[in-house]
Amino acid sequence: MIEKITHIGIAVNNIDDQLKIYRDIMGMKVGERVKSPYRGVEVVFIETGDTKLELLQPLDENSNLNKFLQKKGQGIHHICLEVDNIEAALKEYESKGIQLIDKTARPGASGELVAFLHPKSTGGVLIELEQKKE
Ligand code: CO
Repeated sequence: MIEKITHIGIAVNNIDDQLKIYRDIMGMKVGERVKSPYRGVEVVFIETGDTKLELLQPLDENSNLNKFLQKKGQGIHHICLEVDNIEAALKEYESKGIQLIDKTARPGASGELVAFLHPKSTGGVLIELEQKKE
């Protein structure tokens, strides 16, 4: 079951440049900032109530995020939906024809479980599923 949109992921060339907009001009609160070498990204969360903004900056040229930026430029990258049981959701969606990027959930930046659905089978939207850590 889908609980809510936890965050909207935004691909950026440089997090500090974007903080000048979200933090300095718009006055939004900046949350935790983490590097995820496994995914090749640095991430910072902007606190916006229940649904956060996740700014994503590539850590290296080979990351998928860098390829995304080269192709499409900066902008909305994915939406993240919270589910109560991520493995059950993946199994169900796959059986109903959704193409999975991650066949099984893996640990996200803050210990939650995450998996991505392929935009080819979701109308062009990269969807991240997330199950909160217990
Ligand atoms: Co995300």
